[in-house]
Amino acid sequence: MSTAMSPLLLRTTEKTDRDSSAGQSCLSLPGVWLPIQPRPRQGTGDGLVTRGTGPVRRKGLEAEKELQGLPLSETGGAVNAEDGPYISPTDFARDVLQVELWKKQEEVLSALPEHRRVAVKSGNGLGKGFSAAVAVLWYLHTHNPAIVLSTAPTFRQVRHILWRQIHVLHRRAPDVLQGKLLDTRWELAEDRYAMGLSADSADQFQGFHSPHMLIVVDEAEGVDDAIYEAIDSVMTSDGSRLLLIGNPTTTSGVFRRAFHEERSIYHCITISAMESPNVTEKKVKYPGLTTIRWVDERREIWGEDNPLFRARVLGEFPDHTPDTLIRLSDVEAAVERWKALPAPVDRRAPVALPDPAHPDATDSGAAGDSAWAGPVEGRPERGLARTDSMPMPAGPNLAVSGDGEVALSVDVARYGSDQSVILRRRGSQVEEIRTFNGMDTMELAGWVAAAIREFQPAQTCIDEVGVGAGVVDRLREQGYGVRGVNVAHSARQKGVFANMRAEGYWKLRDLFAAGDIAIPGDQRLLGELAALRYSFDSLGRILMESKEDMRKRGVPSPDRADALMLAFVTPVTRPRIWT
Ligand SMILES: Nc1ncnc2c1ncn2[C@@H]1O[C@H](COP(=O)(O)OP(=O)(O)OP(=O)(O)O)[C@@H](O)[C@H]1O
Ligand SMILES: [Mg+2]
Repeated sequence: MSTAMSPLLLRTTEKTDRDSSAGQSCLSLPGVWLPIQPRPRQGTGDGLVTRGTGPVRRKGLEAEKELQGLPLSETGGAVNAEDGPYISPTDFARDVLQVELWKKQEEVLSALPEHRRVAVKSGNGLGKGFSAAVAVLWYLHTHNPAIVLSTAPTFRQVRHILWRQIHVLHRRAPDVLQGKLLDTRWELAEDRYAMGLSADSADQFQGFHSPHMLIVVDEAEGVDDAIYEAIDSVMTSDGSRLLLIGNPTTTSGVFRRAFHEERSIYHCITISAMESPNVTEKKVKYPGLTTIRWVDERREIWGEDNPLFRARVLGEFPDHTPDTLIRLSDVEAAVERWKALPAPVDRRAPVALPDPAHPDATDSGAAGDSAWAGPVEGRPERGLARTDSMPMPAGPNLAVSGDGEVALSVDVARYGSDQSVILRRRGSQVEEIRTFNGMDTMELAGWVAAAIREFQPAQTCIDEVGVGAGVVDRLREQGYGVRGVNVAHSARQKGVFANMRAEGYWKLRDLFAAGDIAIPGDQRLLGELAALRYSFDSLGRILMESKEDMRKRGVPSPDRADALMLAFVTPVTRPRIWT
């Protein structure tokens, strides 16, 4: 932000030459005349500004466009002149909080005084929440009276993520910042406070009005449009500010529109992990920020040509090409449903004991990605009805949860780099995904047999293409009722789908689109699902992209997605519908 562009950088206590004929206060600098900040009317104690438009409600895109480029000083925004000289957000971070921002954080914070609506899309772990916390503290510190509303999709996110960060930063300068700091509220005066609200009810946002409002929305992609409408209704003063911060994973909604249809009323910023100092400098400069190692891991797990890589690493909205089978936002929504379901108690136990002979046997991606890698954050516990049957082989402590019958599916590795997968679902909730590297068919059959004994599934579908037939034969020989599925065979709806694979995946697509499936946040599974594409054959039937073609575009074999598709090939029960 250059000085010439920003009157806010000028300290109100500086000596100035005033030009009253210009109709406003000006500061004389060589060659430029800049308006300086209006001061609160002296003596009234009400903090009203002497200049400015006041709380004028303007509606519509055109009015918003007019306001968008105007710095706070031009829209009636008052700085906290009573408490000392004005300080810019970046100076505030450096001098008051004594933190070092990286360049994108500076860009975000510098945009706030300049733009009424700022939208930031970013990869993961790049300091968005940190910037939001600085913004909250800065705005309230420098505006009087003022209200700052901070929100995120769930109260847990508001309290444990954003407000925890606010507390940490406030503690760095308690003497300067002062006030009463509670869990999700910082109060300097009755008409000067910041608070956290969860974005689950629009009512909560009603009734807040102040000449200076800042609304900060973290995880903005997950907030409903109804909440944004309520937020709009509190942005009545021209000096109001809105900061949206999120991961660009959605295909619709206000957050996405901010970067597309409504771009003219937002100042848009993108933060890619590739710009993070920890990545560019190839060493951990800011502990906590995304590292080059994480980026490399994601590249390996998802491939660069994957919507998840675009959204979570590059901070770009995924390209939803017309041939994308399942939209990334639908995949993410299925994970959210999974998190919202009660978790079996067993998930709290330390799990994922690897089989020494097959250290990868419990791997489901990067650390922390596994559905069974430990306690499930944000998911309530519930009682466990564990079957007391044959012991399972070493590995995750498989628990029974949810309603509906159990179904197992097995995708058998064909190539060296592929993994065999055993997936278990109950109704339409995926309960477990286990993967096995380089395991022969006999041994894999042993693991499947153990799972059958443990869970008594109503159906076990095994991909019998190629080596998979060996697993089917072995299990049948032992008396297990398993169903071999050759997905290359004809579909039931022969005229619509080129084969069973296409039909099975189309069904999966419908389940995701209808919100009738819940899956754990297994990063490899998410990546595989988001990368699936379909096309049409010469007869106009739906055909899934071949694994060979996927390999050519750098997409790993969709082993887990195949197992998921197989798990739903024939429904055991009608999938439950979550509302
Ligand atoms: N400028 C900074 N100085 C020191 N630590 C920082 C800075 N910026 C961010 N961090 C730390 O880096 C970590 C990640 O930051 P933050 O949670 O803000 O990222 P995020 O982009 O919101 O992540 P997510 O994608 O998970 O929501 C946090 O521990 C945070 O405290
Ligand atoms: Mg965050």
